[in-house]
This record gives sequence, structure tokens and C-alpha cells, in this order.
Amino acid sequence: MKKDIRKQYAGMADGYDLTIRQLIPKYDHIMKRMASFLPYDKNQAIDILDIGCGTGNLAFLLKKKFFYSNITCIDPTDKMIKYAKQKLSVFPGIKYVKSMVQDFKFNEKYDAVLVSMVFQNLRNKRQKMSIYRKICKSLKQDGMFLMFGPVLGSNDFVEEYYMKHWSAFIQKSFNKEKTEGGWLATYREKDGPDKFLDEISMLQKSGFKTVDVVYKDNNLALFVMVK
Ligand SMILES: C[S@@+](CC[C@H](N)C(=O)[O-])C[C@H]1O[C@@H](n2cnc3c(N)ncnc32)[C@H](O)[C@@H]1O
Repeated sequence: MKKDIRKQYAGMADGYDLTIRQLIPKYDHIMKRMASFLPYDKNQAIDILDIGCGTGNLAFLLKKKFFYSNITCIDPTDKMIKYAKQKLSVFPGIKYVKSMVQDFKFNEKYDAVLVSMVFQNLRNKRQKMSIYRKICKSLKQDGMFLMFGPVLGSNDFVEEYYMKHWSAFIQKSFNKEKTEGGWLATYREKDGPDKFLDEISMLQKSGFKTVDVVYKDNNLALFVMVK
């Protein structure tokens, strides 16, 4: 499973910055929203954890806004970390940890933990909740957890609607076969998103003071939690 994930993302790493924008509607808008949502002063040396940093797109925006921040970027895929290091080479204060989130020792305390398009890869609700709890514990008081990713429709009709719209978006860049038999087939076979309300319920049970949703467009949602 772990090897499989690394292989999957190593295979995507070279063209990732283009591909992600072809797969995720309004990707840049959402990344900017995540970075701009954090309520800290730009001169503060805040501590941030970016889980599944990929090629560093989110960390780049965070560094632009919070130059003095200390960011820990974790990702299990060598090639992703390589691209992140290149993109972020101009910035000080970034630490890279090659690790799956499941194996990461949450030994430090953070003002903010961010994760984008990663937790759909987790195995099941139990594993997810155990990680949500660890994230909550690792936050400083009033610290924030921002999570962006796909959710399942609450019934077959809604899920079909989501998939129809997602497929149409992806088909602006790829043909029908690559969209349906490639991207969406991989999503259906390998990813395990949960229903929107189940996500909220899991997050509410994980120790956060508040759970909210500040963006939702079909199957993509941005959750914001405060400890
Ligand atoms: C779809 S990319 C998202 C990258 C970045 N967060 C973004 O939004 O552009 C998923 C990334 O998460 C990493 N990843 C997958 N499973 C992970 C896990 N269990 N723990 C940490 N990172 C993981 C992959 O290596 C990949 O770089």
C-alpha cells in the first residue's frame, strides 16, 4: 500500500503542477484561500505543518505571506520533495521530512496544520480519526487545521452528479478515455473519500473546538478547524 502510493505519486511528480490544475477546478484559488485564511500577523514566526506537501505549491504561498514562518513539509515521495525543495529554495525556515503521515511523530507544536488533496489516500475512517486526533493534539491553543480534499456524495444520485461534473472538467484537458478509464477509475479504485457529513462528524469527535467549511464546490471541500 505504502509503496503503491509512492509509486503512484512518483509517476505524477514530473508534470504535477500542470496536471493538478487540469484535475482540480479552481486549484490556485483554493491554495490562495488556504494561505490567506490563517489569521496571523505576517511578521510572526509561526510554526506550520504541511502534510503531503507535494511539489510545495501551498508552502510557497504560505512563505510568501509568512516569510518568518517555520514550515515542516512532509511527504513520502522523493520526487515530490525534490520539486518542493527546488520551488522553495529561495526561502529560509523550511524543513523536509520524508514520511507518510501515519508514521510521522507529531513531537512538535504547531500554530497551523494544513493538508491538501492527501487524506483521500488514507485507508479507512479509523486511521483517519487517529490522525485527526494527533493533529489536534499537536496544535497550540487556538491553532488551526485546514483540510482540503474530495468528499463522497450522500447518495448515489449526488455522487453521480459530482462525477458527471468532475468528468466534464477533466475532459477540458484529457480525452474521455483517459478521464474515465484513467483519472476517475484510479480515483474510484484507490481513493477512499468519506461523505461530507461523516467528515464533519469525525472532525467534531477529534477534539477541535470548532469545525467549519469555508469552501465547497461539488465534491471538493475545504474544512477549517480550531483547537
Ligand atoms: C495530490 S498530491 C497533493 C500535493 C499538495 N498538497 C497539493 O495540494 O498540491 C498528494 C501528495 O500527498 C502525498 N501523500 C500521499 N499519501 C500520503 C500520506 N499517507 N502521508 C503523507 N503524504 C502523502 C503524495 O506523495 C503527494 O505528494
